Amino acid sequence: MPSHAEFQDRMLSLGLARVSEAAALASARLVGHGDEKAADQAAVNAMREQLNMLDIAGVVVIGEGERDEAPMLYIGEEVGTGNGPGVDIALDPLEGTTLTAKDMPNALTVIAMGPRGSMLHAPDVYMDKLAIGPGYDTDVVTLDMSPGERVTALAKAKACDPAHVTVCILERPRHEEMIKEVRATGASIRLITDGDVAGVMHCADPSTGIDMYMGAGGAPEGVLAAAALKCMGGQMYGRLLFRNDDERGRARKAGITDFDQIYRRDDMVTEDVIFAATGVTDGNILPAVKREPGWMTTETLIMRSKTGSVRRINYRTPVHAS
Ligand code: FBP
Repeated sequence: MPSHAEFQDRMLSLGLARVSEAAALASARLVGHGDEKAADQAAVNAMREQLNMLDIAGVVVIGEGERDEAPMLYIGEEVGTGNGPGVDIALDPLEGTTLTAKDMPNALTVIAMGPRGSMLHAPDVYMDKLAIGPGYDTDVVTLDMSPGERVTALAKAKACDPAHVTVCILERPRHEEMIKEVRATGASIRLITDGDVAGVMHCADPSTGIDMYMGAGGAPEGVLAAAALKCMGGQMYGRLLFRNDDERGRARKAGITDFDQIYRRDDMVTEDVIFAATGVTDGNILPAVKREPGWMTTETLIMRSKTGSVRRINYRTPVHAS
């Protein structure tokens, strides 16, 4: 039975890189063209085509939306050849559609894969998120602390002044109070306009200078970020936020019964996973797709949580004038 085949994360990770690369190459042609939808659609088409070539019996658990709103890569769509292990897939073919349309930093294509049943089926609602990088005691910061308390606690753990803590936050009116509170501690804030998967990943990469991520963003992106942190190390918490009954209904449909649950990283991603991301526009973690006459080049990050291994693959491919 395909679903009983072993999850060969070593080999599948290379296949996953191809999937991520293809989506980045397709959307790169639309960087700076001001058309979010076209860039997203190009990434979706390319990602789906490559995914369907993999020998997996895959199910999209985090995707483009519910079946009636997304014709492709919708939640529950079966992908792959069907000959291979049963796997859960979380994907965002273009994380940062506006960043891509405006040619702003940190747009990525993102995909994670794990054994069947390994990922939280997060509905398309907001999630309150908190993340830090590796090397800290468990629960040094928590979602129940105020933003200011989190900064103070992290500064204590780092044995530094709060002024030496940098927090990444999505620039949104809903975060105005949080921003004020964090600034009142003396900490600095890197505001991002979009792309909180990258925002969370930044905490686990010291070269970015970011210590902590906090704030509300998409719940599906939360699961993808948890998959990335499971590979990179670091702690993450998420609590679903509901604005109305329709959103609560979406959660019920996804099998969620406790609406106040705080999910830790390993509640969102319960088994070892593989994760791939390719840069679309230039970013702190990945460079943009490079376009030269006749050629395009991508850089892809591939990570395996089982081993903590991180690979970067450069892919150069000829392009033909269309
Ligand atoms: P898209 O790529 O789908 O546009 O999402 C970008 C993003 O910034 C996510 O990274 C983030 O989780 C979410 O949007 C935040 O939502 P909102 O724009 O409604 O605040």
